Amino acid sequence: MVEIIPSILSADMARLAEAIETVKAGGATRIHVDVMDGHFVPNITIGPPVISSIRRATDLLLDVHLMIEEPDRFIPEFVRAGADLLSVHQETTTHLDRSLQLIRSSGAEAGVAINPATPVETLTTVLEIVDFVLVMTVNPGFGGQKFIPYTLGKVRQLVRIRRENNLAFRIEVDGGLTLENVGEAVRAGAELIVAGSSVYHSGDPRQAVEQMRKASNEATLSRI
Ligand code: DX5
Ligand code: ZN
Repeated sequence: MVEIIPSILSADMARLAEAIETVKAGGATRIHVDVMDGHFVPNITIGPPVISSIRRATDLLLDVHLMIEEPDRFIPEFVRAGADLLSVHQETTTHLDRSLQLIRSSGAEAGVAINPATPVETLTTVLEIVDFVLVMTVNPGFGGQKFIPYTLGKVRQLVRIRRENNLAFRIEVDGGLTLENVGEAVRAGAELIVAGSSVYHSGDPRQAVEQMRKASNEATLSRI
């Protein structure tokens, strides 16, 4: 089942609870939360205290995307704060296995994220211990960027590897997803679709989620 996961990065941060309720009404079951440290990416966002507040404000699953150097220093704290799914970037951790084990032992689903320029081959050994792989479809750091088409080649590659090795991880895409290109991403094999500006910068976030869900469900039916 394909899911549209609104990213609150593009929401009005002073009205987060309301922004979450609106997309829940549109059928969202998860919320994507972007954590940026000003080092790995040239932007700074939020940390565990805000995630704890969001946790208290909603029962939706929290999909927390860490774009921070040395993620191991903070993983247990993010899980305690309420992350149900937690992803670290392959590029930020020398000991990727340790980071993924730490996410799992802390009690969240473990994901590994890769930048557009990072090959899938860098993940081959860990695919059997991850719950999901996040393929960045823009360079991380900002909402509202343009989708990079070649990244879908990596989604197709992951689908192939998963099938050949009988694995079970899910595939998430993040960045530049819109009503126009969501179908293509789903046909490539993406199952968790993050959408920030196309939801929150539309006039009607609830309807935007509904429309993207509809388009992705139709694409699922025509998947080859
Ligand atoms: C970018 C973030 C994304 C961002 C996506 O670094 O990881 O989650 O919110 O925003 P859009 O959908 O506007 O590209
Ligand atoms: Zn993200």
